[in-house]
Amino acid sequence: PTSNVGYGVSSLTKVKHTHPMLSLGNVFDSVQLNNFVTEIIKKTGEVDLSLEYKYDGLALSLHYDKGVLVRAVTRGDGTEGEDVTNNSKMIANIPLQLKGDHPPEYLEVRGEVVVPRKGLELLNIQLVEKGLKTYSNPRNTAAGLIRNTDSAKLRNKPLAFYPYDCYGVDKNSVSASLDYLSDLGFDLFSKPKIVNSIEEINSFYQDTINDRDKISIDIDGLVIKVNDSSKHDILGTNSKEPKWAIAYKFPPVEKATKLKRIDWQVGRTGVVTPVGVVEPVNIGGAVIRNVSLYNANEVKRLNLSLGSHVVVCRRGDVIPKIVKCIRLLNSDVCHL
Ligand code: IVH
Repeated sequence: PTSNVGYGVSSLTKVKHTHPMLSLGNVFDSVQLNNFVTEIIKKTGEVDLSLEYKYDGLALSLHYDKGVLVRAVTRGDGTEGEDVTNNSKMIANIPLQLKGDHPPEYLEVRGEVVVPRKGLELLNIQLVEKGLKTYSNPRNTAAGLIRNTDSAKLRNKPLAFYPYDCYGVDKNSVSASLDYLSDLGFDLFSKPKIVNSIEEINSFYQDTINDRDKISIDIDGLVIKVNDSSKHDILGTNSKEPKWAIAYKFPPVEKATKLKRIDWQVGRTGVVTPVGVVEPVNIGGAVIRNVSLYNANEVKRLNLSLGSHVVVCRRGDVIPKIVKCIRLLNSDVCHL
């Protein structure tokens, strides 16, 4: 144990990003999507849009000097991240050396580190066998592993990197940048789909939602980008988000389960909060065991009883909650 002192405590070096790592604005329905696309057409006349999956992992920036991986930095607060170079070198599909005879002088590749759902399942089985704590979802796993202070611990872990952007080499379009990254040796999770109408976006969105369980990694929406790079400057960026790209988020996934009990947690300030303990249920790759109940009024409002059949939902990084209570005839419940 003495050699483990400091384990889990971050001793990673902070690094300032060359360009801020932006986030994305969100749209949740076709009306909001319509507004975004209409604005783009009005300002640029552009209709070619690139559709990509929105990977639910951890953003990473890779720096290549004359084709050699020299640094990997997490997103952090967007301005400054943490140096995770040694850990990134343990991710099998991150090229240590770019392919080809004429590597760029300097290239920065941005993308997402993800954990395939199957990989997480196997990892959790191994952890259970060793009597260790399991991971609750792929994103937390990616974040936890990549910030590990001991790179050796990442050996054979189910991590993968998928790029979505690069700096240092000018390409005419989003799709051309991705083709270029593929030529340099990066795996693309899927090729971007180029569309030019709202109908096409909605149809791809619906198809992707229907196939979501068949996709091996967690995705929480689509990213819609203006394909022509020259239009990016015209549209510009606000303080945190580019105006030439947006995330079209998927609706939250709901599943039915049963309320086992309610724990009352006392917070630092003395506030008592009810937390529902439910029969474990897998929602989009995450096993939900606890749900937020906010306060005693919420317990009343939902008309909860021990043993109640409930519908729970999980949306992105928000804590899962109970949407409603389903009353079944003759169900075996005990009133609180
Ligand atoms: S593009 C300037 N493309 O979503 C454009 N981001 O909510 C910046 N993300 O921090 C991002 N999949 O980590 C882009 N296909 C994708 C993405 C993607 C996942 C993440 C990214 C970013 C976050 C913003």
